[in-house]
Amino acid sequence: MATTISTNVESKDLNGVSLIAAHSHITGLGLDENLKPKESGQGMVGQLKARKAAGVILKMIQAGKIAGRAVLIAGPPSTGKTAIATGLAQNLGSEVPFTAIAGSEIFSLDLSKTESLTQAFRKSIGIRIKEETEIIEGEVVEIQIDRSITGGHKQGKLTIKTTDMETIYELGNKMIESLTKEKILAGDIVSIDKSSGKITKLGKSFTRARDYDAMGPDTKFVQCPEGELQKRKEVVHTVSLHEIDVINSRQQGFLALFSGDTGEIRSEVRDQINTKVAEWKEEGKADIIPGVLFIDEVHMLDIECFSFINRALEDDFAPIVIMATNRGMSTTRGTNYKSPHGLPFDLLDRSIIIHTTGYNAEEIKTILSIRAQEEEIELTGDALALLTKIGQETSLRYASNLLSVSQQIALKRRSNTVELGDIKRGYMLFLDSDRSVQYLEENKTQYIDNEGKVVIGTNGSFKKTGAADSMETD
Ligand SMILES: Nc1ncnc2c1ncn2[C@@H]1O[C@H](COP(=O)(O)OP(=O)(O)O)[C@@H](O)[C@H]1O
Ligand SMILES: [Mg+2]
Repeated sequence: MATTISTNVESKDLNGVSLIAAHSHITGLGLDENLKPKESGQGMVGQLKARKAAGVILKMIQAGKIAGRAVLIAGPPSTGKTAIATGLAQNLGSEVPFTAIAGSEIFSLDLSKTESLTQAFRKSIGIRIKEETEIIEGEVVEIQIDRSITGGHKQGKLTIKTTDMETIYELGNKMIESLTKEKILAGDIVSIDKSSGKITKLGKSFTRARDYDAMGPDTKFVQCPEGELQKRKEVVHTVSLHEIDVINSRQQGFLALFSGDTGEIRSEVRDQINTKVAEWKEEGKADIIPGVLFIDEVHMLDIECFSFINRALEDDFAPIVIMATNRGMSTTRGTNYKSPHGLPFDLLDRSIIIHTTGYNAEEIKTILSIRAQEEEIELTGDALALLTKIGQETSLRYASNLLSVSQQIALKRRSNTVELGDIKRGYMLFLDSDRSVQYLEENKTQYIDNEGKVVIGTNGSFKKTGAADSMETD
């Protein structure tokens, strides 16, 4: 790998797209200036204690400098664990990296468990890099382009000035193209990045204001710069450690960032980058921004993953890890011992725990009406009341899904309003988990069981078994 490490990324990769839809009504944690949760705000309703705790964590993250902490959000299904993490991400703003993964994703990628965890960790660390670049800033006096008769090579001259000096620059093909593309004319104040050749139009010169009375209201007038034409300017950009890894990994290169197909990144590459970033930090060229890694359904991880997380939290570059689980006392995957929330004790010990609890009828009703608004569904009062009751008895998520389904049922009878009957029909068509379990109990012989056994035919008259050595017919 080259000794210079590149950090320029044009576009960020998209993460966690799948989480958006169900939580699209949430735009934040809904806190006031003192970080106290409002009863309802930014799409969030109730769950006050947990939201308040999330607010404290938000404050800690924003104050910077804290890293390597673990937070566990524990609570029954459908109590807003993922919703709270989503709200937190939005309150953090775009400067702080936030990565969301589901525990099971670790096993479904083409990568080893530890590699995908490493990537997730490094996506959650931002590096704010300050760089000095040389720019030319001034007012365009004249652009002169000579087109060769053969049409191929273009040449030209750019005359540019400040209040104190004027210089003529030779123009190559590429510069001529960007000048044309940006529609740069005499009288424009421009800034040209010397290393990349990027041209930015800052506005029109004040001295020419009179010449442009036909300009639209959005024309910006600026003063002609003073002093030297060439200046050094500090630019700041933020990238994640993972992005630096990928663009500096010779096998993968820049394109891998867009395809997401990054493969395993060699540890020497990461070591070199870590050293370099630490150097930049020493020299004041870079700041490290510990972001957030959210691991949803964390009980899907196994003991190897948990030890990895334990170790990674000790690292110099560690994000804040927020985990969510709906498990109580349960077995940690890959072991045969039970522990609270299925998390090994050492990890549990270093986590601060936030509990979420079930919602009351009023809260369910408010959340469901927010969802209805979000999905632009109109529904009658008694339909909402029934939906709320169903939400109380099954789960908020089931009721929320039922809402979307009922809208389709209403549309089928050419109505834009969801009525009581539509909810009832939806409820009959789609089972919630309890009724599904009951159905399974009643019809279990027709399903394939863990041993691969299945019974075909009504009263079990023809039995087929998965295991070849126990073939039997009666
Ligand atoms: N306090 C809340 N305010 C607004 N919407 C909520 C709240 N809690 C849950 N929801 C919504 O209810 C649904 C289920 O919640 P979710 O966060 O997925 O539950 P969990 O992750 O705890 O299983 C989601 O659509 C979520 O956005
Ligand atoms: Mg969830």
